[in-house]
Amino acid sequence: SIKRIMLAAQYSENSEDLSVIQVQQVEKPAAQPGHIVVKVHTAAINPIDPLVAKGFAKNVLGWTMPLPFTMGYDFAGVVDSVHEGDTGFTVGERVFGVNWGTGCHNDAGTPAGGAFAEYILIPASKVSKLPDAISFDQGAAVALVGTTAYQVLFNAAKLTAGQKILILGGSTSVGQIAIQLAKERGAWVATTASTRNLSYVSQFGADLVVDYRTQQWDELPELKDLDVVFDSVGEKDAFSRTTQKGVVKKDGAYVTITGADAGFDPAGHPPLHFASLFCLTNSAAVQDALVAKLASGALQITIDETFPFTTEGVHNLIKKIEAGTSTGKNLLKIV
Ligand SMILES: NC(=O)c1ccc[n+]([C@@H]2O[C@H](COP(=O)([O-])OP(=O)(O)OC[C@H]3O[C@@H](n4cnc5c(N)ncnc54)[C@H](OP(=O)(O)O)[C@@H]3O)[C@@H](O)[C@H]2O)c1
Repeated sequence: SIKRIMLAAQYSENSEDLSVIQVQQVEKPAAQPGHIVVKVHTAAINPIDPLVAKGFAKNVLGWTMPLPFTMGYDFAGVVDSVHEGDTGFTVGERVFGVNWGTGCHNDAGTPAGGAFAEYILIPASKVSKLPDAISFDQGAAVALVGTTAYQVLFNAAKLTAGQKILILGGSTSVGQIAIQLAKERGAWVATTASTRNLSYVSQFGADLVVDYRTQQWDELPELKDLDVVFDSVGEKDAFSRTTQKGVVKKDGAYVTITGADAGFDPAGHPPLHFASLFCLTNSAAVQDALVAKLASGALQITIDETFPFTTEGVHNLIKKIEAGTSTGKNLLKIV
């Protein structure tokens, strides 16, 4: 049979030197049972991408890490091919999703990632339809960070209307979605941001925005006995500051997505009903909910910068995310 080729941003070894990542010709994937192939129009980067490239998933988390590995979890594009007999998607349909793999990087028998490529092979269960009104850029941007924000608030913290939440890091991509989802749910929302980002963060509707460069959030009288503290930046000592200064109420929730300071057992700090690191899990249902909110205007997602699909473009995209100063998502434009 004729092997078809495509371009993909791959590395063959986990290395601190990310110049090993190259856009190169590889074999185009074919649809498999339960998996579809999507022609990628836009992909998005996350801080985890360069960490995984440097060996974090394999060496720190102990996950299986298929090599060579094609980078990128978030994508939006058009269905290129489906496996004979499978239903749910048709060729030409607009779709988006995140090819994350919790606990390993080859769940479902195929590698996670793969979005920084002309075509991605992905379990159909991880894919959602993208309405015509939503751009490929927005679809790629919202998948990973939107799923994370949604699951932190509603699965981990179980945030309900009328509750009070502090979101550390209101200008992170996850944080700015969390502010909007929490406000829409009817919560009172406080958040932190640097001086330069105060007005940027205010647009998302937080009730209180604290400048973390000039104010200590754990010293503010307004921030006591809250129902939920959500750390989206990995602030030093955030968990001990939260509990020791009474920022969260005794049976409230503390959720971090970046630090190990609360450990890994949500029930490990009673009477807090949740206190742990939280990691997203793939959910097409959550993606569907997010895209419905984008379509209705209840949710907005900011694009910071867009990069071309070349080796240099990928290297610059990685430098941008590693700088940690983004306001919004950084995208790789493939079509
Ligand atoms: N566990 C999970 O499932 C999961 C999922 C998604 C993301 N994450 C992690 O969550 C973190 C956020 O990801 P992201 O993609 O949302 O990040 P991002 O968009 O790259 O966040 C960058 C923003 O963080 C702000 N920031 C940095 N330090 C801060 C601080 N101390 N307080 C408040 N804001 C601060 C920066 O502005 P200033 O420097 O001007 O403040 C910048 O606006 C990353 O560590 C990522 O790896 C985890």
